[in-house]
Amino acid sequence: MKGRDVITVLDFSRSEVERVFEETDAMQRALERGERLDVLRGFVMATAFFEPSTRTKLSFQTAMLRLGGSCIDLPPEELSSRAKGESFADTIRMLDAYADVIVVRHRLEGAARFAAEIAAHPVINGGDGTRDHPTQAMIDLYTVRKALGRIDGLVYGVLGDLRYGRAARSFILALTLFNPKKIYLISPPQLASRPEIIERIRERSIEYEEVRSLHEVISELDVLYVTRVQRERFPDPMEYEKVRGSYRVTAESLKGAKPNLVVLHPLPRVDELAYDVDATQHAWYFRQASFGVPLRMALLKLILRG
Ligand code: NCD
Repeated sequence: MKGRDVITVLDFSRSEVERVFEETDAMQRALERGERLDVLRGFVMATAFFEPSTRTKLSFQTAMLRLGGSCIDLPPEELSSRAKGESFADTIRMLDAYADVIVVRHRLEGAARFAAEIAAHPVINGGDGTRDHPTQAMIDLYTVRKALGRIDGLVYGVLGDLRYGRAARSFILALTLFNPKKIYLISPPQLASRPEIIERIRERSIEYEEVRSLHEVISELDVLYVTRVQRERFPDPMEYEKVRGSYRVTAESLKGAKPNLVVLHPLPRVDELAYDVDATQHAWYFRQASFGVPLRMALLKLILRG
């Protein structure tokens, strides 16, 4: 994996994803034991986030620092040369000269791929518009494996904004590298999955069904992946108003679920996932977020050192 870009989760084979998971287990054990690691001492990671982020940026930076490496961060627009009109391409060229790896987040689809074409060093996609968020998808599947011991043979429900959400999209794509028993795509019709995703599921001969409400399928699910309505992606604010609040998972709505149902959410949540779910045995989303550090440690090590 040394030197590789990470643009979409489909850049990886199943066995490569499993290799990342094994390395993540090792990183997790080292973190638990409080070991001080220095496999990336002398390496520099640049983060270039052109969109808001809490978890992705900070967990990448934590991962790099925990491995003994260092981080530089592109300042927000008004404090960097972008305020003077510098192009994305020139910004990436400079970061490529300073750092050994670049993590990019951008509102435009294809921005990370474009950055990877410009940069000689590896580029990791930290989210490009409505398309890909490959490291999030790896964290999500890693959490399923931790919680239930496997990824294959399970029934998955992906709930919410399947149209604009890159986390949901990437999660579904990542699932197609494995053998899920069935995927339920749960959304209001306006937020249904885009055709290319359905096509990919079909190509892989995975059973799936599009349904409107969680209620219809809750008792069958092993994993429920909840996502936020991606307000910022709606071309028309009126369209957003029509769908906001159209679904909400509460402790009450999980009654009738399997006792070991795993509820995931890439976070941030707004109102689609009620706080009363936090106290149930189903809530895995904070552990999911915490796995961001060991998983990104694993990935950075594999990309920079092999
Ligand atoms: C997601 C994102 O930015 O795509 N957040 C994350 O990275 N965990 C999900 C979202 O914003 O809804």
